Amino acid sequence: MKRITTPQIRARKGGEPLVCLTAYTAQTAKLLDPHVDLLLVGDSLGMVVYGFDSTLPVTLEMMIAHGAAVVRGARRACVVVDMPFGTYQESPEQAFRNAARILAETGADAVKLEGGEEMAATVRFLTTRGVPVCGHVGLMPQAVNTAGGFKATGRSEEEAAGVARDAAAIAEAGAFAVVLEGTVEPVAAAITAALPVPTIGIGASAACDGQILVTDDVLGLFRDFTPRFVKRYAELSTQVTAAAEAYAQDVRARRFPGPEHCFPPPKKG
Ligand code: KIV
Ligand code: NA
Repeated sequence: MKRITTPQIRARKGGEPLVCLTAYTAQTAKLLDPHVDLLLVGDSLGMVVYGFDSTLPVTLEMMIAHGAAVVRGARRACVVVDMPFGTYQESPEQAFRNAARILAETGADAVKLEGGEEMAATVRFLTTRGVPVCGHVGLMPQAVNTAGGFKATGRSEEEAAGVARDAAAIAEAGAFAVVLEGTVEPVAAAITAALPVPTIGIGASAACDGQILVTDDVLGLFRDFTPRFVKRYAELSTQVTAAAEAYAQDVRARRFPGPEHCFPPPKKG
């Protein structure tokens, strides 16, 4: 089966909503692949998988290792890998060098990077040199320290205009899609109407051309905190707890392993 390409994602503008989820492992990618258009190897893995309290400590090596795992697990979905903090902000050349490593060493289809007008020149540098880029504007988790926290944006007219300018600049620079995070419905609707490429919303209303969520949130696996915009479709953490508890009891009582889990004794004669 052929993978969905970035031009195909771009062509979905205004059509059937794009279904996107994060994935960090081959197994999860394999399970999600038949149901989604795009799998994002998000740097949210720093919090979800590695237990950091922001995405800032995530390294290029982590993204490459998890990106390659997701590509091995996915057959159909377009795979996009986040560029981590500090691997692209310095210059277009730095961004290209690291984006090229991500594409070459993982086999992913594209990279994603955070930023608005200030990153437009970098997005153009990449997209004109063979690196498909997905933008990410609005709430930008890598800017947690300058923003003073993870806060929704676009609530004032000035903020709304800023997010709109950022999205337009990134699309104009050649991004095939733009993630719009943590903004209000009228802003998302206006940006979606104005942009020639799909908007992929997270905490940005149903007005976007697609939706993305962190899979561990959707599955009820990551429960350190649950933002308002998350809808949990399962409560896997409850099941994990119950399974671990039952296993522990069985081992302590010598109920596990049973005869059916043991290799048969050698045959006589
Ligand atoms: O890192 C991530 O998972 C993301 C999405 C939530 C958009 O950037
Ligand atoms: Na991210």
